[in-house]
Amino acid sequence: MQEEPFVWTKHWYPLAVVEDLNPQKPFATKLLGKDLVIWQDADKQWRCFEDICPHRLAPLSQGRIEPSDGSLQCSYHGWRFGGSGAAIAIPQAAHDSPQSERTSLASKRSCVATYPVQVQLGLVWVWPESGPHAFIESSAEQPALNQRVKEVAPEDVALTTNQNFVRDFPVAYDILFENISDQARHCHYTLTSFASMFLLWTVLSHLASQWANHFEVTNLNKDKGPGDAYTYDLEWSPDAIKPPINQKVKGVPPAYIEYFTPKEDGKFTALWFYVIPLDEHSTRVINHAVVVQPLPKLVKVLAAARPRWIDHLLLNEIFDGDMAYLAQASANSKRRDGFGNSWAQDYYLPARADGSVLGWRKWYHKQGGGGFWEASGREATPAPVLTREQLLDRYHQHTQNCPACSKALQQLRTGRKQLLGLAAALLLAAAAQLGRGAPPISVAAAAPVLGALASVWLSEKFAGWQAKFVYSDYDHTARD
Ligand code: FES
Ligand SMILES: [Fe+2]
Repeated sequence: MQEEPFVWTKHWYPLAVVEDLNPQKPFATKLLGKDLVIWQDADKQWRCFEDICPHRLAPLSQGRIEPSDGSLQCSYHGWRFGGSGAAIAIPQAAHDSPQSERTSLASKRSCVATYPVQVQLGLVWVWPESGPHAFIESSAEQPALNQRVKEVAPEDVALTTNQNFVRDFPVAYDILFENISDQARHCHYTLTSFASMFLLWTVLSHLASQWANHFEVTNLNKDKGPGDAYTYDLEWSPDAIKPPINQKVKGVPPAYIEYFTPKEDGKFTALWFYVIPLDEHSTRVINHAVVVQPLPKLVKVLAAARPRWIDHLLLNEIFDGDMAYLAQASANSKRRDGFGNSWAQDYYLPARADGSVLGWRKWYHKQGGGGFWEASGREATPAPVLTREQLLDRYHQHTQNCPACSKALQQLRTGRKQLLGLAAALLLAAAAQLGRGAPPISVAAAAPVLGALASVWLSEKFAGWQAKFVYSDYDHTARD
């Protein structure tokens, strides 16, 4: 029997974390190569429009939410749109005559293309087709959610980690999906950031697998049916942990990867990723995890008190470790001079641990038709050549769209200025003491100087921490 081809545009994709969005500001994004804008209308509903004004094609994401009526206003000529996508004001036509504006507003040509949207688990989900049929079809489909977590009572969730980390990578979707479902990668993930001192264990279920030296992928199978899921069991054995840990891994194309680690008495940890194809060479990842098992009260209190950016710093560092080689692997896979023609010839996958990659590649090239870009009939283009700074650009890939990290960065900048100001004031105070005749070796003169030195030292520390929100190079050879 012929299997139904996978249609990339007929699925829900999570595009944004609600708590990261600013209801007063349109959010520009992409999905499957389309330019989109997400915004909140007057009824507090999240909307997704094509990011193109029907008047003269300006991006609506450069517009603003009109305070008087909550409409989306194009910044070019001031046309305004309601949540349905229909224009509600065309100032220039109104200037001609009220009737002229009414006629223009009634025309389909003044409407923006809209896409179905829903909010689930704190994420804004978008269905990347527009038109009446899209709203009907999308209502019959459900987003891929972590079902186990949905069924758990909130009080049983001991800990939430990774905290909806979002990052946009300049890497092709298939390479990143493959990478995240491949726990056998041998990275030098020694974390150097100060954040590693805090609550490292909160991401242990993810990190520990990187240190494992033994992997077995078994029971690789493809579930036929809704969602086209494929699953496998992953057994991994970090040196320090006996017996080996068994994880169930599930990939549900187009976007969902789940790591499930069962514990005794029905307890578990679950770590999941959404891998979202934004454009041919650009992919968004959203990561979250929960621990459903008893934990000491103090641990729970400390964990609940930690700011979200601590988890994000750790994850940025982990992903930087991957990016150090992934972008080039991605570019190699798209080359046409011997690579990129057949994954089965380009890849040599001899070990059992390669099983997850095998499962993914078979699905991607058979059911997936070789990817969303190919399926849409567009010509493949070479991957962009990136500098090291562009590749590991934490600021543009994460911080600028993350309120928690943006705020932490701003506080570090402000704190640094204040520390330098304090150092200058203390030096002036020391000079004043000397001017009043205090001996250089005296508490009155030396204490302000020592205080100034401490302030400068701390401001330098702040500068180092600032860099962790912007750009930090990642050198595998410099790590254990
Ligand atoms: S281009 Fe949007 S109002 Fe003119
Ligand atoms: Fe962040």
